[in-house]
Amino acid sequence: MKFLEPIGRQAGQVLYLVSEFGMESMIKKCLFPAAGYGTRFLPATKSMPKEMLPVVDTPLIQYGVEEALEAGLSEIAIVTGRGKRALEDHFDISYELEHEISNTGKEKSLSGVRQLIDECTFSYTRQVEMKGLGHAILTGRPLIGDEAFAVVLADDLCLNLEGDGVLSQMVKLYEQFRCSIVAIQEVPMEDVSRYGVIAGEALRDDIFRIERMVEKPRPEDAPSNLAIIGRYILTPDIFSLIEQTEPGKSGEIQITDALMKQAQQGCVLAYKFKGQRFDCGSAEGYVQATNFCFENRHRTHPVSAANARLKAVSA
Ligand code: UTP
Repeated sequence: MKFLEPIGRQAGQVLYLVSEFGMESMIKKCLFPAAGYGTRFLPATKSMPKEMLPVVDTPLIQYGVEEALEAGLSEIAIVTGRGKRALEDHFDISYELEHEISNTGKEKSLSGVRQLIDECTFSYTRQVEMKGLGHAILTGRPLIGDEAFAVVLADDLCLNLEGDGVLSQMVKLYEQFRCSIVAIQEVPMEDVSRYGVIAGEALRDDIFRIERMVEKPRPEDAPSNLAIIGRYILTPDIFSLIEQTEPGKSGEIQITDALMKQAQQGCVLAYKFKGQRFDCGSAEGYVQATNFCFENRHRTHPVSAANARLKAVSA
């Protein structure tokens, strides 16, 4: 059953909030662009994917896949590149190792990733030239097809100890609004030049309809301090908009430019999520994430933090 509630006007058209009950989640796929060079984390990332950096004992990509599965997204699509094969090996069985530790206490340490292997499907494609996040998302198109999907940048570690994970919160919003949604966070004004920054009309305290987006503005040019972080829900028309997007100054195809066109043609929402986000692509954020996870997860669940997380997922 569908309910329509008017929430605003755009180009003379009334925008509706669509509420539908009794339906399964409409989003099943989650795309992980993971082909970037990770230059901020050299030399660690010279021969190892940034997404495999461990936060305490679990690689970043695993936190991301757990968050996706918690949100009901079990079809995992990963855009990889040269030197990223460890990502595929992580989500596969390791017979020799598993045989070696079977019937020992260490077996439990792998149960979290085993559960992901059992409950998710994993598909991969390679980005041959690293031409930016927008281009990486376009590279994932054959794995996604013509349906709405989530995007997780695994180096942004998002945790919500109080309730639903960030992707779960966004999937619920998508089921109401049925348009692309980006997760945002307030950041100090001096940091805006590291992010895409939005301005828009507040529909609720935590939801904005985007009117402007600027990629990596100088603080004096930024329309706000609301920064886009690495969680998106995208409708599939984004692919043709990315195709029409010219590379920016850095030569990279920015997702922000394609989203701005989508916002002008229809509606893109920005959502101030509940929870914590750590920029694990930078040393500072990575250390903060490690301390946070050690204090809040590992120490409180010393046997296996992954089991504790996944218990919450299956509950
Ligand atoms: P980042 O800019 O944070 O990642 O891109 P990077 O380029 O790997 O890192 P630095 O800045 O050099 O340290 C955000 C996400 O987009 C992916 C990255 O892997 C990361 O998850 N990405 C970026 C691609 O998959 N392909 C690209 O061409 C660029």
